[in-house]
Amino acid sequence: MKIAVLAGDGIGPEIMAEALRVLEAVGKQCGHRFELVEGLVGGAAYERFEKHFPAETEEICRSCDAILFGTVGGPVDQAKLPKWHQCERNSILAIRQAFGFFANFRPVQVYPGLVDASPLRREIIGKGVDLLVVRELMGDVYFGRRGTEVRDGKRIAFDIAEYTEDQIRAIAVSGFEAARKRRKHVTSVDKANVLDTSKLWRAVVHEVHQDYRDIELVDMLVDNCAMQIVRSPSQFDVILTSNLFGDILSDSAAVLPGSLGLLASASFNSAGFGLYEPPSGSAPDIVGQEKANPVGQILSAAMLLRHTFKLEREADLIEAAVRSALEAGARTFDLANGGPALTTKQMTDAIISALPGK
Ligand code: IPM
Ligand code: MG
Repeated sequence: MKIAVLAGDGIGPEIMAEALRVLEAVGKQCGHRFELVEGLVGGAAYERFEKHFPAETEEICRSCDAILFGTVGGPVDQAKLPKWHQCERNSILAIRQAFGFFANFRPVQVYPGLVDASPLRREIIGKGVDLLVVRELMGDVYFGRRGTEVRDGKRIAFDIAEYTEDQIRAIAVSGFEAARKRRKHVTSVDKANVLDTSKLWRAVVHEVHQDYRDIELVDMLVDNCAMQIVRSPSQFDVILTSNLFGDILSDSAAVLPGSLGLLASASFNSAGFGLYEPPSGSAPDIVGQEKANPVGQILSAAMLLRHTFKLEREADLIEAAVRSALEAGARTFDLANGGPALTTKQMTDAIISALPGK
């Protein structure tokens, strides 16, 4: 079981170290050994290779069974330095393209013990939130033709959104398959009242639905969905959507649990090869202060065990440990609401000692 470990920048190395401690603890408990191969990405890679996603790192990833990714990017006020210039695009989009990661899964749950950390009222959140954003990752404005030109002395910029029916079909299958293992409900989100890409999206999703008659399918326009996510999030099971809408809606859903630092995500290509990462940013403002929340990285490692290595029990153990640590009151500074907070390491210690069977 060989894992490429790309910690990246900012809090990436801090939270990655904690996720690796949890992996080691679970490995010891269940008799597994994980081989870890570290690679550089983002600004950290730029320092050494003058590239954000160097060929050396790609090779490491190709030699492993899965990628555990941290975070990349630098401080906003240094965005013009070569080390940080277009760092996210050059590393994250490059790695998605290199491996053909077309399907992105972002689960969002509100933990019972954390209902008060949510910015939404208990009446809204207390009904329970357990949704999964299934986002297409290779199409749309992200990879279409783009440019900035001067016409008649005025600057004009464009980003072309494109979807092939095959791309839509592939992500629709992923969404319906995911729903089958959950509550069998899919909300397909588009802007079919305006966009051609969305009209095709809707048509193809309904065609694929013919093979998934056991799943309930609802179409929703993206503006309405943005509202429904904060108005009544309990209605959602799987949210199936395109690249840009998924980017925005998944961040919006991410505030429901109270902190982006709690979330994990997974991306897959058609061969089932996966990259696992917390969708939070590199948070350069809190680097080195022991304030980072390691939970998103730890839960990303749990997703890796479940999906790449089929280690269901081990993934369950980690998720249960996170849940019981949070329920017992363990809070990093992002969750502490000004109250006493655990350091990054103490939070991990709380999770490791909450591992069932320890
Ligand atoms: C994400 C990020 C990326 C995206 C950026 C950093 C390119 O926001 O993974 O959601 O837009 O996909
Ligand atoms: Mg995003």
